Amino acid sequence: MPTISESALRRMEKSARTAAARAYAPYSRFRVGAAALGGSGKVYAGCNVENASYGLCNCAERTAIFSAIAAGERSIKAVTVYTPTPLPTAPCGACRQVIHEFGPDALIISICDARNRIETKLSALLPGAFGPGDLP
Ligand code: THU
Repeated sequence: MPTISESALRRMEKSARTAAARAYAPYSRFRVGAAALGGSGKVYAGCNVENASYGLCNCAERTAIFSAIAAGERSIKAVTVYTPTPLPTAPCGACRQVIHEFGPDALIISICDARNRIETKLSALLPGAFGPGDLP
């Protein structure tokens, strides 16, 4: 498991919980917050952003990662996902693929309103992933 400092983990958790309150989720009413830890040590928040054209909905994890990349980061060390549910929620397949691009060894933590949490690695969530190294 990649080692991330306790202080970074705490900052990510706070950031993901706060971001969920900013979710734009009028269609699903499922609010999600995420935090991505960039290679620099900075934490980037994201929430899900839905659209009346449902297929254009963007997950919280991707919002956080795109924000990190737009700020100049080129690697992601960890992602925390918060959902206001009794059980933790793992990132969807599309988000796993996007995380793989920048953090194939990233630590993925899912937290919720109970003590249950999932702590795993992106490589366990997306084994045998297609990535930048597969392109000629
Ligand atoms: N969603 C996320 O933001 N992250 C996940 O890991 C799962 C799903 C969002 C997308 C959509 O806005 C809503 O949750 C319902 O699928």
